[in-house]
Parts: sequence; structure tokens; C-alpha cells
Amino acid sequence: PLVSTAELVSAATAENRATAAFNVITLEHAEAIAAGAEQAGTPAILQISENAVRFHGGRLSAIAAATAAVARASTAPLALHLDHVVSLDLLHAAADEGFGSVMFDASKLPYQENVRVTAEAVAWGRAHGIWIEAELGRVGGKEGEAPLGAHTPGVRTDPAEAAAYAEATGVDALAVAVGSSHAMTERTASLDHALIARLRRSVPVPLVLHGSSGVPDAEIRAAVAAGMAKINVGTALNTAFTGSVREFLAADGRSVDPRKYLAPARTAMAGTVADFLGLLRP
Ligand code: G3H
Ligand code: ZN
Repeated sequence: PLVSTAELVSAATAENRATAAFNVITLEHAEAIAAGAEQAGTPAILQISENAVRFHGGRLSAIAAATAAVARASTAPLALHLDHVVSLDLLHAAADEGFGSVMFDASKLPYQENVRVTAEAVAWGRAHGIWIEAELGRVGGKEGEAPLGAHTPGVRTDPAEAAAYAEATGVDALAVAVGSSHAMTERTASLDHALIARLRRSVPVPLVLHGSSGVPDAEIRAAVAAGMAKINVGTALNTAFTGSVREFLAADGRSVDPRKYLAPARTAMAGTVADFLGLLRP
């Protein structure tokens, strides 16, 4: 069934667990995430990023409707989330397309600008019943420094600044920079667990780990134990999917029906989803 991110995250945080969110690009991703959640016997979040919407020609409706339909038909509780949204038009479209939550990403803006636009996004979210996650990017705040996203390698979130940011914006959850970075195809990241614990103590809302594809199992478990509530995984699904397609096509130079290679690729992706969800099971 289709559930909300708010209910999955609050149920998880109440039990010191985390919930996982997986990025959907194509219909096969949505189907694989649902299958993986069913295999693991846990809920999951299906998230569509602004980049993925751009891949679909800037049209949100078709991929959102397909993903929502997959969630409704699943036996696993699945939520629909819009990820890394920069465009206000896309934020505002979320309400009409079945999304219960949006990650509004102003992390590339200077701190004060980030606070101002994120507070507006939160006000809009409150008025429309949408849970809003945001990201605090620039750390330190030296004058004249180029703005950095929170997941630029080397960047870390400052606990005091994060607490002030959560208070000033009213966000429902906060993505923090603790050592992971996006789009890693090897699981070699190491996280700053002491920083996660400090952030957990100073920030009153659930914390979100982005770029989890590059984080080893033990590091993810430790991050959850230290207080991470939402674990975002994208690239690892594509690594499994594309690896399978590559293997199939290398061995078979004749087939043309995409179902021949999409079916095993989707199964491989579902396995990766189930592995991540298994890691988060109590
Ligand atoms: O918001 C999406 C996640 O941060 C995914 O990152 O593709 O590096 O796993 P990843
Ligand atoms: Zn992310």
C-alpha cells in the first residue's frame, strides 16, 4: 500500500531504527524496490529526484503515477518522495501527484538564503500536508568561499549551525554531511560517527544520510545506531542493474527483446534493495 514518509520515519525513529529510501529512474526501479521490500518484509520509500524528472523530459506525472501505482499494488508499505528538488514549480507539483514528502534542496545557497527559501518551502509543505526534508550545505561560512553542497567531498555539517537551521526553517528532517558523497560505485566511504552522535544530540528532527551507496554495511549500521533515521540509496541499484545488463549483452549478441535483459537486471536490483533493507531490520 501507499503510505507516507512521515509515518515510516516516525515509526522508525520511535524504535531507534532507520528507514531506507531508494531512487526511482524507470518503472523497473519502482518494481524492483517494491519486490525488494516484499522480500525483506519491511517498508521502504520510493524517491524520484528532480534529475530523474529531467530525464523524463521534465514531466513528473507519468513516472510519478507509475511509481504510485506500484506502491499501491505492493504488499509492502511504500511511500512516495520527491528528492533533491531545487525548482519551486516542481515542489508545488508534488501535492497533485501523490507525494507525501519532498526533499527541498537549497544546499548550494549561502546559509541565510538557504534558510529563507527552505522556510518558505516548509510553510508551503505545512499548508499542503507535505513533509519537508532539507539539507544544510555550506559549513563554516567563511566570506568569499565558494558555496558547497553538503555532500561535496570533505564538507561536514556543524551541529550548532544545524540546530539553528532546523529551528529557523521548521524542517521535518535534515540531510547532513558526515562523510558520504553521492554516486560512489565502490563502498569505501567512512563516516564520522562522533559527528553523527553530536548532530543527533543537537538537532531535534530526524537525520538523513545521503549517498549511502558508497557506505559499507558496518558503517551504515553504526550510523543508524548513532541516530540516522533515513538512509538514501541510489547508485547501488544502478550498479546492480547495469552490471546485469552488461553481463547479459556480453554473453548474448542476438536478443533484441528488452525484457530478456531487463528482467534479470530488475531481479538483481531487487536483491540489492533487499540487502540494504535487511541491514536496517531490527
Ligand atoms: O538522494 C539520493 C541519495 O543521496 C542517493 O545517493 O546514489 O550515492 O546512493 P547515492
Ligand atoms: Zn542525495
